Amino acid sequence: MQYIKCGSETFNFEIKPIGKICNLCKRETPVVTLTTQALKLCKSCFLRIQERRVYEGVKRYKMFDFKDRVGIFLSGGKDSSTLAFLLKRLYPTLNIQGIYLNLGIRYYSDQAQKTVENLCEKLNIPLFVYNLPKEEGFSIDEFILTDFKSKICSVCGTIKRYLFSKLAKNLGLTVIATGHHLDDLLSTYLTLFFQGDFESIKRLAPVSPPIFPGQAKKIKPLFSLPEREILYLALLEELPLESCSCPHGEITPSKKVKKWLEDWASENKTFKNQVYSVFLNKFIPLLSSKKESEAFFSCLKCGEYTSSPNQICGRCRRISLLERIPDRKLEFTREEWFSLKDKTNWVIFDVREKEDYLQEHLEGAKWVSPNLVEDEKALFKTFKPYKDKNLLFYCYTGRLSYLFVLKLRKLSFKAYNLLNSSY
Ligand code: FES
Ligand code: ZN
Repeated sequence: MQYIKCGSETFNFEIKPIGKICNLCKRETPVVTLTTQALKLCKSCFLRIQERRVYEGVKRYKMFDFKDRVGIFLSGGKDSSTLAFLLKRLYPTLNIQGIYLNLGIRYYSDQAQKTVENLCEKLNIPLFVYNLPKEEGFSIDEFILTDFKSKICSVCGTIKRYLFSKLAKNLGLTVIATGHHLDDLLSTYLTLFFQGDFESIKRLAPVSPPIFPGQAKKIKPLFSLPEREILYLALLEELPLESCSCPHGEITPSKKVKKWLEDWASENKTFKNQVYSVFLNKFIPLLSSKKESEAFFSCLKCGEYTSSPNQICGRCRRISLLERIPDRKLEFTREEWFSLKDKTNWVIFDVREKEDYLQEHLEGAKWVSPNLVEDEKALFKTFKPYKDKNLLFYCYTGRLSYLFVLKLRKLSFKAYNLLNSSY
């Protein structure tokens, strides 16, 4: 079995014997190493250890009881999927609701939705799907046309948090469980610490009480699990996982910190747990003694609670930027493209393999290497002569050419994609 991405790392994982006998049960064949203790474990002992960690965390921090209705926002990724799997296994009678936010991210959101549907079927969890473009008329991709073009993930985060609260209310959830794990929490904690944002650090505790009246409490049952072990668990349990990643994936400060943490942890296996324990037991209590500001308002646009003093919530401020852009087109269907009358200011680029381009291509199309999409500087240099033009990209499926469009939009080029341009 192969899996390529986990946090800041890329590696292969194959289920195969890694020794003669499991260090715990002394019976089965070990297939996985516990990253923190160098123990070689069989599948069921590994699962038992992770279950125990989650069970003890839930109990210690009183995360929920059986009167609660617990929502899990599923993304199709390993973290939320493993969370759903473990909660369902440990608490089969708990009232769990799966939710999927389809954010309209082309070549990603619909695929991930299918993965989440399969997961919920496998785990027997009810699923509620919220389709952002259908419900609200915009998609996350469209922010590429605004001043937020280089911060799509952060806009996405604001919109998602808003929807978490709103949908939790509509669905009657009392608790929202998220898949944040040890590596996520540590890297975010250190990043916020360096930025001096202590208010946000408080929200990294295993339980975050509601900020506004009627809000669900947020819990992080995987807070003590290392990312790598979550991935192992998801693979060993054969959970349906989304293999294509979000095209907006950015190198955020916390991803860089994750890489440093990995380097430090390679010298000292318990390093991450030590740092997190200091954070949890010493630092957070210091912050909690500081009274949080209690001022909150109803957003003048959407009516949801906000702490923003100008009474317009972060989500509505961002959406008003989109509303100022009349033409939010990023893709053309073949019909639209061929019926376009005036093509004088257009340049067409074929980003398929060169052999295919040489065999056949759209009239007037120039070839550019598909690999160029990886290199921002080269991308800018190559397309600089076309700064004033409209650029049309196509490939076999539309996925790679769309990536070109997104990258070039960030660099302020007028780039468009040709949809499903197989011919
Ligand atoms: Fe939000 Fe990728 S999932 S930007
Ligand atoms: Zn609002």
